[in-house]
Amino acid sequence: MSFAYHNLRSGASAQRSDDQFAQAVLKGLSNTPKHLPSWLIFDDRGSEIFTEIMELSGYHPAQCEFEIFHTHKQVITDLLSKECFKLIELGAGDGRKTMVLLEHFIQSHLKFTYVPIDISEGAIKNIIASLEKKFSGNALEVKGLAADYFDGLAAIDENPQQRNIVLFLGSTIGNMRLPEAEQFLRKLHAMLNDGDYVMIGFDLMKHPKILYSAYNDPTGLFEKFNLHLLDIINDKLGADIATHHYVQQGQYNPRTHAVESYLYSTRRQVVSIDALGKKFYFDAWEPIQTEHSYKYTQHEIKALAANSGYDTVEHLFDANNYFVDSVWKVKK
Ligand SMILES: C[S@@+](CC[C@H](N)C(=O)[O-])C[C@H]1O[C@@H](n2cnc3c(N)ncnc32)[C@H](O)[C@@H]1O
Repeated sequence: MSFAYHNLRSGASAQRSDDQFAQAVLKGLSNTPKHLPSWLIFDDRGSEIFTEIMELSGYHPAQCEFEIFHTHKQVITDLLSKECFKLIELGAGDGRKTMVLLEHFIQSHLKFTYVPIDISEGAIKNIIASLEKKFSGNALEVKGLAADYFDGLAAIDENPQQRNIVLFLGSTIGNMRLPEAEQFLRKLHAMLNDGDYVMIGFDLMKHPKILYSAYNDPTGLFEKFNLHLLDIINDKLGADIATHHYVQQGQYNPRTHAVESYLYSTRRQVVSIDALGKKFYFDAWEPIQTEHSYKYTQHEIKALAANSGYDTVEHLFDANNYFVDSVWKVKK
């Protein structure tokens, strides 16, 4: 049993990510319409709120993926684990769903190292603490990395004896536009070896009313999650955004095939951001897009695999066919 944690987000790397954050805010608020990318929301507090969202019964992506792991854990074990392997998870969050697999792998006496990677240092520290509590006394090796996806992947020691199995769960891929998703998957392909596996969680297109309820919970957690982005801008960039003058709403957009969340300014107002040396003007009810969650068809998933260099091995669905974990093999 060994649990290790490394923070790759210090020094020059932390400075680079602070600069990226500032540039993304500058570009996003200068755009018409205003648009802030989803990845900006995931600091430690953002990850905590997202964990609460995953517990909402109406948030089907989390509930469906839990169901898939419980139902298909033996299939996943048989597919992926012929020999000693490294289980690398990109954007692991609280790792709660993955624990279903870890538990089953341990019970099946598989030999593997678990490497959760997340940009949120708090998320990785929490995973390590939960795993230590849950699996102490078991033969589990964990190396947590607080890092950007590809910085984390590049820091992993290459071991030709160990096959890599990469998890990218929770429909995180849906936060990217299709061309960006393909570019991301090609970059991942270039860093993996022939015969390695990836398993990606895709939320599938379904009745727009189901999508609407999933992203507009009556408890207001999604609103809290999106408004938190304004808190981060206030903290990180010395802004004076009055968050109580914004409200959130999400909706499916048939033109982009994505659920888009917006923060609406409830009044005409001006925001100053010290670190950018700029003021931004909002009209009453002017929106800022804060989330983009693409909803895939099965055909698009197969095409995405083929176009980015993978063979599709298996599609694992929940009982309603709302969500799929798609298993691909790297082809070189
Ligand atoms: C939608 S959540 C999914 C969390 C988890 N995989 C799940 O299924 O519950 C996305 C996760 O990716 C992390 N993340 C976002 N951008 C990242 C990046 N560039 N590098 C590493 N992690 C990132 C976030 O901190 C967050 O934990």
